Amino acid sequence: MKNNRPKRLIVGISGASGMPYALRFLQSIPVDYEIHLIVSSAAEKIFKSETGKVLDKKSLPALFFKTQAANIKLFSNDDHFAPVASGSFHTDGMVIIPCSMKTLSGVANGYAQSLLERAADVTLKERRKLILVVRETPLNTIHLKNMLQAAESGAVILPASPGFYANPESLDDIIDFIAARTLDALHIPQTLFHGWKEV
Ligand SMILES: Cc1cc2nc3c(=O)[nH]c(=O)nc-3n(C[C@H](O)[C@H](O)[C@H](O)COP(=O)(O)O)c2cc1C
Repeated sequence: MKNNRPKRLIVGISGASGMPYALRFLQSIPVDYEIHLIVSSAAEKIFKSETGKVLDKKSLPALFFKTQAANIKLFSNDDHFAPVASGSFHTDGMVIIPCSMKTLSGVANGYAQSLLERAADVTLKERRKLILVVRETPLNTIHLKNMLQAAESGAVILPASPGFYANPESLDDIIDFIAARTLDALHIPQTLFHGWKEV
């Protein structure tokens, strides 16, 4: 493997509630990361309804810093010829934020029908880091079993359940909390939220 490639992350957005987490997370990734972004069709609609913004190629410069927008490659969820569909395309890992129970099921059961699910499948088979920011409540036993199965295959289950021990003062603080914990899980430096008793 050549080592001179850029830092590279796959970001999947699936159709669960929690789109502000996805936006804050993406906006907080250092600009030297190349981001391969995959958005499911359900996610596109829920993103618009929860943030009031459109997430497509045209809107990237308005949503992100200029340098960052230039580093985001947005792929269609049925584009099985995208680079991240193959394990020989090296990445530093993947996050699905938010992760719906349907997408969780696809990942946990190796049902790699969409590009998003295929990229997650590849990430697991190549033993790279996969973070699933799952969102549903309450959970049925199918959801719980799928989480266990995904975790046993190497995924990190990071529920979108914010802590209140840092006394959040606003919705922004709560969104920051989940975005920060997700960045932490990928070992990406962040300044959104400091750990307990850290300054
Ligand atoms: C407004 C809205 C909110 C939703 N929130 C959730 C959610 O939090 N968790 C979840 O698992 N599914 C949620 N769903 C259902 C999923 O969008 C649906 O199962 C969809 O098929 C998921 O497809 P995808 O995983 O390919 O994006 C929501 C649907 C809508 C319309």
